[in-house]
Amino acid sequence: MTGPLLVARDLRRTFTSGDRRVAALGGVSLTIAPGETLGLVGGSGCGKSTLARVLTRLVAPEAGSIAFMGDDWLGLEGGSLRAARRHLQMVFQDPLAAFNPRATVGGVLADALRIHAVVPKAERAGEVARLIDRVGLPSDLGGRSIREISGGQRQRVAIARAIAVRPRLVILDEAVSALDVSVRGRILELLVDLQRETGVGYLFISHDLAVVRAVSHRIAVMAEGRIVEEGPASSVIAAPSSGVLKDLIGAVPRLNGKPA
Ligand SMILES: Nc1ncnc2c1ncn2[C@@H]1O[C@H](COP(=O)(O)OP(=O)(O)O)[C@@H](O)[C@H]1O
Ligand SMILES: [Mg+2]
Repeated sequence: MTGPLLVARDLRRTFTSGDRRVAALGGVSLTIAPGETLGLVGGSGCGKSTLARVLTRLVAPEAGSIAFMGDDWLGLEGGSLRAARRHLQMVFQDPLAAFNPRATVGGVLADALRIHAVVPKAERAGEVARLIDRVGLPSDLGGRSIREISGGQRQRVAIARAIAVRPRLVILDEAVSALDVSVRGRILELLVDLQRETGVGYLFISHDLAVVRAVSHRIAVMAEGRIVEEGPASSVIAAPSSGVLKDLIGAVPRLNGKPA
């Protein structure tokens, strides 16, 4: 594929709660290239998850357009939507909510392979074993239920499920935020390795600038429903222009020059 993987233009979405109207997205535009990681950072409530949900079509925007792999993503229906969906996967902060907790790890992965007919049926069990190994989980975990495993293991299963269908783009919304520091570091390494192997693009969303910095080629900074600055990761952090980003940099000891 030549050209950008995803182009979003002027996305708008308002929520009303009681007599309060919140412009969760006040006109957001962004571009992600194939194989690229765009980091999206910003404080709580600035609209990051709404953007993720609009991009995955869990929430409809009131205005704006999204081109994904060259198609009008918001206009796709039926079989062409199902086919394109395979290529846009999402990983949430708490994958427990996204799994049937009684399902087994192997069952979750086999289902993903079956739904999108990724490999012939006869190769499915082998592919499940390969995925479990690829995300660094012990081979005997396949028979365990999602409920029984740790949060870090569950997040590896969520990543395995996302990459099982060989997508072009994975949106990760606070995907490592609930994990302790060492588990988080290993999962970030896994994501970078998988990107190198498969050329998958990521939209990596976090309120934590240090985490975003560790994996992103470019960084976009969001505040009050808008992207307030954007650019290559190193130059955005070296010369922040928005108050939001200056505050986020100040909160990260390794980035503001103070010892951790
Ligand atoms: N389903 C919803 N109903 C009402 N308000 C919502 C809903 N989803 C998000 N919001 C509001 O939209 C704003 C942005 O929320 P969100 O996208 O979750 O931000 P973030 O992920 O950056 O913390 C917040 O003010 C939030 O309360
Ligand atoms: Mg959020």
